[in-house]
Amino acid sequence: MSDAPWNEGLFNRFERLVEITVCGVRFSMPENNNLLRGFQYAKADALMRGNYCWNGDCINCIVWIDHPEGKSKGLACRTEAVSDMTISAVSDDLRIDLMLNRAE
Ligand code: FES
Repeated sequence: MSDAPWNEGLFNRFERLVEITVCGVRFSMPENNNLLRGFQYAKADALMRGNYCWNGDCINCIVWIDHPEGKSKGLACRTEAVSDMTISAVSDDLRIDLMLNRAE
């Protein structure tokens, strides 16, 4: 059995955590990693059980990102986590796994 920690090699190298807001809830996640890895960092158990392909095929990780000029839709597994990012809506899979309330 290996003595390596469970997350060794899972995350891209990072120096600090960034704060993002998802449906009004603040999350701390590693910079230089995509949002789905960041959610895994924040809620490891839930994301490990989730139904995610991690490669852009399943679209179970859709997020709606707020920008000054409007919203854009993206995949959490393909979008880098950026400090102060605001996500206003997420897929049903992410909403359940992250234990977020449905947007009204
Ligand atoms: S996890 Fe499947 S598309 Fe992102």
